[in-house]
Amino acid sequence: MANLISIAVLGSGNGSNFESIANAVESGMLSARIACVISDVPDAFILERARRRNIPARHIDCAPFKTKLDGAAEREAVSYMQRHGADTVALAGFMRIVKGGLLAAYPNRIVNIHPSLLPAFPGLESWKQALEYGAKWTGCTVHFVDGGMDTGPIILQRAVPILDDDTTESLHARIQEQEHAAYPQALQWLAEGRLQVQGRRVLVRA
Ligand code: GRF
Repeated sequence: MANLISIAVLGSGNGSNFESIANAVESGMLSARIACVISDVPDAFILERARRRNIPARHIDCAPFKTKLDGAAEREAVSYMQRHGADTVALAGFMRIVKGGLLAAYPNRIVNIHPSLLPAFPGLESWKQALEYGAKWTGCTVHFVDGGMDTGPIILQRAVPILDDDTTESLHARIQEQEHAAYPQALQWLAEGRLQVQGRRVLVRA
């Protein structure tokens, strides 16, 4: 039996992964509620998507930091998530490194989705990196978040072939299709209490 988990979604952009999580909740496939949405970008579409669904949504100004969530912004984010009852944090296109304060507030409860088969192609625009490298396969990875960039234990991966006529756009679109299935699935395993972390390995219990 799955517990009902309460997810805070953090994103910086379009929010299509947020949408796939919200759809999975609505259809009953994911045993969760979305507690709130936070963005570091004031006009990010993810905030608009959340408001349309009457989900509490908030911009948090992360200055003076450019690449991390730290200091006063981190404290504000943690308190906003806690106020809305979040017990799980899903990073969905959140373009900042999370630091010790958030990691300590949500130990083993922060997950991320990355558009490559990690550990290949961490960092930015991974679909472009894979295409330019000449890889024949790429994909997406859902993983627990640790202090590094795209380094935490891997929960789930889905592979995508790189086709001869792929452009960065066509490849990214096919990776995103897989992301939209992978993220709700991984969160459902978390809700069902099936994930067991053993060092770097995440075992998915039956
Ligand atoms: C996704 O490709 C995700 O893997 C990466 O950022 C992108 C976010 O897309 N971390 P969206 O905002 O969910 O549409």
